[in-house]
Amino acid sequence: MPASVEHILASYNDRAPLSEASTIPAPWYVDPRIAELERLQVFSKTWQLVARTDQVANEGKFVATTVAGEPIVVVRGNDGVLRAFYNVCRHHAAAVVTQPCGHAAMLQCPYHGWKYGLDGTLKGMPGFDGVQNFDRGQNGLVPVRVETWECFVFVNLDPQAASLHQFLGGLVKRIAPLHISQLRFFDRRTFNIHCNWKVFVDNYLDGGYHVPHLHKGLSSVLDYKQYAIENEDRYCLQSSPMVASDEDAATGATRKGDRAWYFWQYPNLMINCYEGYMDTNYVIPVDADHCEVIFDFYFGDVSEAKRPYNTESVNVGNRVQDEDLGICEDVQRGLKSRAYGAGRLSVRREAGEQLFHQLLAADLKSDAAPSIAAAD
Ligand code: FES
Ligand SMILES: [Fe+2]
Repeated sequence: MPASVEHILASYNDRAPLSEASTIPAPWYVDPRIAELERLQVFSKTWQLVARTDQVANEGKFVATTVAGEPIVVVRGNDGVLRAFYNVCRHHAAAVVTQPCGHAAMLQCPYHGWKYGLDGTLKGMPGFDGVQNFDRGQNGLVPVRVETWECFVFVNLDPQAASLHQFLGGLVKRIAPLHISQLRFFDRRTFNIHCNWKVFVDNYLDGGYHVPHLHKGLSSVLDYKQYAIENEDRYCLQSSPMVASDEDAATGATRKGDRAWYFWQYPNLMINCYEGYMDTNYVIPVDADHCEVIFDFYFGDVSEAKRPYNTESVNVGNRVQDEDLGICEDVQRGLKSRAYGAGRLSVRREAGEQLFHQLLAADLKSDAAPSIAAAD
């Protein structure tokens, strides 16, 4: 008989000091019941990155996506206000917006043609004459909370959640000096990985432990011994002084500055900065065994003249990513082995991983009932 979810959750001790701590146990990475609990208790209650502010800068611009399995649309109204809604038609539940991004004067459902204003109000229902006791005012698109920070747009499905700034906590101040909003979006790459989303996050948060072994190119520009790990609130900052290297020309040419900055914000967002460079990694759980990771690349100068350099830089990022993908998929297989239960953590390197596991445990063990936005 499979262990109960309560038993699986209880098998992680989130109180142990780092020197005594273990990772979350293997079933957390492979059991579909844990994946569903995460959907309700983590991804439906935390601020999730859904767009860049430049994508919704003007009236009528929208981005449609999904958060915790829910279809969502973010749109800038004619009054300049940014709003988000469940992208679910109040007639028979079709997706009202079917393009991932674009521009519209009105949101019209493709199924039976119901029309909604950019503020979500229901404006028109073709062929609906004679319907009694139907209040148009009560049948607008259902709103979702939306807030912005730096160049990012976030939504939160939980109407009770604290504000985005409270959620981000110390990260806001810590990242401000890097002026990331001055960078411009250049390119996006999406990876589908055969591993649990937490395997990808763990790999990111191992304090550079794997860098000398797995990423020889990247390793040549980082001062591994000086690699620093700082935990605060819901974020971990890993940073490292940069050293000049001619060992790997492409990496040396495209990863510059005094320091490399790697921020992780619970649960699934990473922001990586070098001089004149940023990439964000946004990890989306697909099921217990699969995740999708979206890489967005930004540069200080995205002019045509800089295109070859920026492309080279993206390629360096992709090479590092490929090195990580293989190991993440190996780990997912290992987590299913009868030989493995949980692993110990390096005190010098893996404090970020412990923070991640503790925050996750707090959310999964919380007995607050999952809440969803109620239809009005
Ligand atoms: S489902 Fe949208 S108009 Fe019918
Ligand atoms: Fe890596």
